[in-house]
Amino acid sequence: MALHREQWASKLGFVLAAAGSAIGLGNIWRFPYKAGQYGGGAFVVAYIVSVFIIGIPVMIAEFIIGRSAQKSPVGAFRVLRDSKYWPLVGWLGLATGFVILSYYSVVGGWIIKYIVVSITSGFQTGTASANFTTFLASPWQQVLWHAIFMFINILIVRGGISSGIEKWSKVLMPALLIILMILMINSLMTAGAGEGIRFLLKPDFSQLTRAGMLEALGHAFFSLSLGMGAMLTYGSYLDKNINISTSSLEIVILNTFYAIMAGLMIFPIVFTYNVNPNAGPGLFFITLPEVFARMPGGQVVGLAFFLLVAFAAITSAISLLEVVVSFFIDELNWSRKKADYILGTVIFLVGIPSALSFNAWSGFTLFGGKNIFDQLDMLATNFMLPIGGLFIAVFAGWILTHGEKEAEIKRVENTFHFYDIWHVLIKYLTPVALLIVLLYTTGLLSFFE
Ligand code: PHE
Repeated sequence: MALHREQWASKLGFVLAAAGSAIGLGNIWRFPYKAGQYGGGAFVVAYIVSVFIIGIPVMIAEFIIGRSAQKSPVGAFRVLRDSKYWPLVGWLGLATGFVILSYYSVVGGWIIKYIVVSITSGFQTGTASANFTTFLASPWQQVLWHAIFMFINILIVRGGISSGIEKWSKVLMPALLIILMILMINSLMTAGAGEGIRFLLKPDFSQLTRAGMLEALGHAFFSLSLGMGAMLTYGSYLDKNINISTSSLEIVILNTFYAIMAGLMIFPIVFTYNVNPNAGPGLFFITLPEVFARMPGGQVVGLAFFLLVAFAAITSAISLLEVVVSFFIDELNWSRKKADYILGTVIFLVGIPSALSFNAWSGFTLFGGKNIFDQLDMLATNFMLPIGGLFIAVFAGWILTHGEKEAEIKRVENTFHFYDIWHVLIKYLTPVALLIVLLYTTGLLSFFE
């Protein structure tokens, strides 16, 4: 067993890696269209409130658990409490990592494919929808691009914490910011800017239904990578002198900032080119390619756009893979290289049914008439993450002693008030809010409709 646990080389590297995990398809793709759907600025407000009530408290809890145990999720709960049951929360996290990465990588593959398309042929008007349909219908293409995306992740995670994940996050996150800024400014100069900004930010509280509020809560959770131990694992590589509270605030602010910038990049051009802003999931692969086809310089803009999305997706996917890999390193003493190649391959195989959901296996639906891909997404985001988050909150709020928590959160800072506020939230408000989300999504609280 390795005597020294790997560590992040700097606070900046850690914050960028954790922000990289948070900022992903959730921010750039899901956030803008959810905001559009549920009352624009009203949804943004609900999202920010959720981030404060649930997001920040759970993130701090994960960092505390990970850093004090110096282990990945399963081992962490075992080290902190001698109990048969708590490690199950770690096992759930491990399973969630498998599930999310398996289908996330399929979408990652689409993005890589669209990067190649932007380089080779660019986009032509009137063909986007048919092209995407043909692409989805090809089983071997779906599996091939999924494999390529997974392979990139394997290569990065193989480098380890400071010379793999941290090094790449320090390159990809600033690159992402630069591309995002350029594209946003470019969008804000088009004729539809005013309408796009209004669509995203003008609060219309009448559209913020209870369903919208719960959606905002759930999204806050997914978009901050919480509930499955990704942040817990990243926290286990954190130097004891680094301030957990300020790091968490920085990560959360970066996450929200990138999400809003993504919206400000997307909606102005959507209105300028008169395409449907509520296209939902098809927005990226049908609506935007159509816009790029019509826009002057659209091939370059399209390439920059898909590169940006790929960077965001990769820095999230590596955190999912790291959770799984670190389990095999910590618990079974595997070498990083062995764990990385084997588990990367296994997750690739687990993802194949998702890749085939749009073609060969599209007829195979479990319940609710959804294909395997949608089913797994729903299972992970609506159930596995909030359940994991609920137990993490209960563990941090009710099981760990003040002494254990203060050792992590008050070590270098005098954040007395901060600690007290955090503690009330994680003990009462966060678990109750998560419980309501769960009761609602399982249909037990149907009167919410
Ligand atoms: N936060 C990532 C996103 O917004 C997704 C993710 C969820 C990553 C859970 C890791 C863990 O796309």
